[in-house]
Amino acid sequence: MAFPETRLRRLRKNQNLRDMLTSTIITVNDFVYPMFVIYGKNKEIEISSMPGVYQYSLDKLVGAVENVVKLGIRSVLLFGIPEQKDSVGTGAYIETGIVQQAVRLLKKEFPDLIIVTDVCLCEYTSHGHCGLIENGNVLNDQTLDLLAKTALSHAEAGADIVAPSDMMDGRVGAIRKELDLKGYENTILMAYSAKYASSFYGPFREAADSTPQFGDRKTYQMDPRGSINEAVLETKLDILEGADIVMVKPAMAYMDIIRKMKDEFLTPIASYNVSGEYSMIKAASQNGWIDEKSVVLELMTGLKRAGSDIILTYHAASIAKWLQEV
Ligand code: PBG
Repeated sequence: MAFPETRLRRLRKNQNLRDMLTSTIITVNDFVYPMFVIYGKNKEIEISSMPGVYQYSLDKLVGAVENVVKLGIRSVLLFGIPEQKDSVGTGAYIETGIVQQAVRLLKKEFPDLIIVTDVCLCEYTSHGHCGLIENGNVLNDQTLDLLAKTALSHAEAGADIVAPSDMMDGRVGAIRKELDLKGYENTILMAYSAKYASSFYGPFREAADSTPQFGDRKTYQMDPRGSINEAVLETKLDILEGADIVMVKPAMAYMDIIRKMKDEFLTPIASYNVSGEYSMIKAASQNGWIDEKSVVLELMTGLKRAGSDIILTYHAASIAKWLQEV
């Protein structure tokens, strides 16, 4: 027999063979598109560090959502930027809050759209932290009530999925309990479970105006150098407390964590391809250094292969368009 005996290239010979042997396929249904909502009228402000991503006032939001729905996107994730901030994040849980208004409006216009809301206080607090502050510390248990109140107000507005991103201990249980108590036992809970204190969130903090005014988020978000067991434990607790979907965030530098979660748990796994990851690809492609479409589709294929059932990404609208082309 001629050398080499094994010729893997036989199966790569032509496009039909390669297509036949494809094992990871991404579809538009895999994606959730994050959007930012602000007060005011006729506002559509591009985030300078995130080209192609905008803050929309409510009147502009409907048109923007209509465009992505037409592309086949079935789910959006909403972040709100309040008119005023205070030390207890009131804007996060009032009935007239920006996210609550956006959810009501979108539910009316797009009854089938899956609306996800980010449940956190950092956009709404004057200090920019995800919980209440006492003597410079972020309080855990006292914050839980406010997070539960925030999630309830989103559910009352019509949110299909509430997604706590604060990383307080026990928040999934606190939110589940409150939702069940008030008759929202069918509201889905997607927990940001393995959420790292990441430098990749930089552009988001411009988009959501949520930079901490002192210190950082390292006392509540996870240390990237921590053990994989810590990520498993965080996720396991969230599942035991009632999470329906668990999330790994960020995505690109944490694909090992995504794979671990997929192997470890039966619960669906979401991964969040965050702002900094988006901006890097945008910047490189704007410079002509990489081809945006093929790089993004390759990355999404990788995230899905790693074990993501759902991918949250600012590229979602472009992906939907590209998938229609092929
Ligand atoms: C709120 C929240 C953040 C992100 C999602 N929800 C910021 C943070 O934790 O600092 C980041 C999303 C992104 O970077 O795209 N806590």
